[in-house]
Amino acid sequence: MSNQAQAVNEALPRWYAGHHVFVAGGSSGINLAIAEAFAAGGARVFIISRSADRVERAVEGIGADGGDAAGCSADVRDAAAVERALQQAHSRFGDIDVLISGAAGNFVAPALGMSANGFKTVVDIDLLGTFNVIRTAHPYLRKPGAAVLNISAPQAFNPTRYQVHACAAKAGVDMITRVLAMEWGADGIRVNSLVPGPIGDTEGIQRLAPSEQALEQMEASVPLGRLGRKEEVANMALMLCSPLASYVTGSVLTVDGGSSLAGGRDFSDALAGG
Ligand code: NAP
Ligand code: COA
Repeated sequence: MSNQAQAVNEALPRWYAGHHVFVAGGSSGINLAIAEAFAAGGARVFIISRSADRVERAVEGIGADGGDAAGCSADVRDAAAVERALQQAHSRFGDIDVLISGAAGNFVAPALGMSANGFKTVVDIDLLGTFNVIRTAHPYLRKPGAAVLNISAPQAFNPTRYQVHACAAKAGVDMITRVLAMEWGADGIRVNSLVPGPIGDTEGIQRLAPSEQALEQMEASVPLGRLGRKEEVANMALMLCSPLASYVTGSVLTVDGGSSLAGGRDFSDALAGG
């Protein structure tokens, strides 16, 4: 890392000291890495996901590293449960400075092998869940100054076989980003999307590239020649929610080693069960 890059890397998180960061779907994977990155910079982090055990483990892990975290179980498909979680977070940490919406579900299946409920399940978690989290959070967001970040996916803009549910849902997530950037700009709230590419050691990649061979093929197809690291996505979350990005709203930023430049991926290995 160059001296300049190192300096930015070290300075960025300090902007978050004492800030309240709420992370929906933050109990594992990329979203947990984002929560950890903000906590390492002194932010007070509130995490929700469905599993109380996973939330507890995530909160304990951040605490063990010296961070200040809390959380509770909530399903983003249930707006009332999200509201209760936000009330709890607000009474503990005050107005929300950064809101991350990253809860998601996925599986690989052709449209003809997917029931209406299978399609609806992913759309409900990714798209309706994002609406519930952001819409319900509005009264609790710091105005002016809050940053909202939706965690999207390349499926939002690359039509991808066996991903009709995730493609439809994440395209909708990015449209929520753009519409609310327009509606909430007057409140001084910025809304952006972050699009991770293939990120190693995650549930998402395990589902989409379940074999060694599929992983190797995926790595080889990335212009930068490797899978991404969770911290590399977290770094961009820190940047987009910081004053460095004070004039950035309604944007969709890829963190993917260039992998989406070549179009949609082929997940037929996952369909065949690896
Ligand atoms: P992950 O570890 O499975 O993260 C998903 C999180 O969402 C979990 O903490 C899960 O916890 C939570 N969640 C799922 N359904 C929920 C619901 N109904 N209500 C509340 N929380 C819910 O997967 P990941 O691979 O790190 O993915 C994280 C984000 O990155 C997702 O938005 C995904 O679309 C995006 N992404 C990932 C990749 C990749 O390479 N991994 C690539 C592109 C985009 P519970 O089970 O406890 O609910
Ligand atoms: N192929 C086809 N349909 C599938 C499927 C698959 N591999 N996996 C689930 N479904 C269908 C189910 O059959 C069901 O439809 P049905 O009622 O018509 O039979 C529907 O999806 C809902 O399944 P259910 O298991 O009840 O949903 P859930 O709400 O408990 O779990 C999932 C949601 C399915 C998305 C689950 O995989 C999950 O919780 N994922 C979270 C973690 C994750 O996906 N991380 C990666 C993020 S990128």
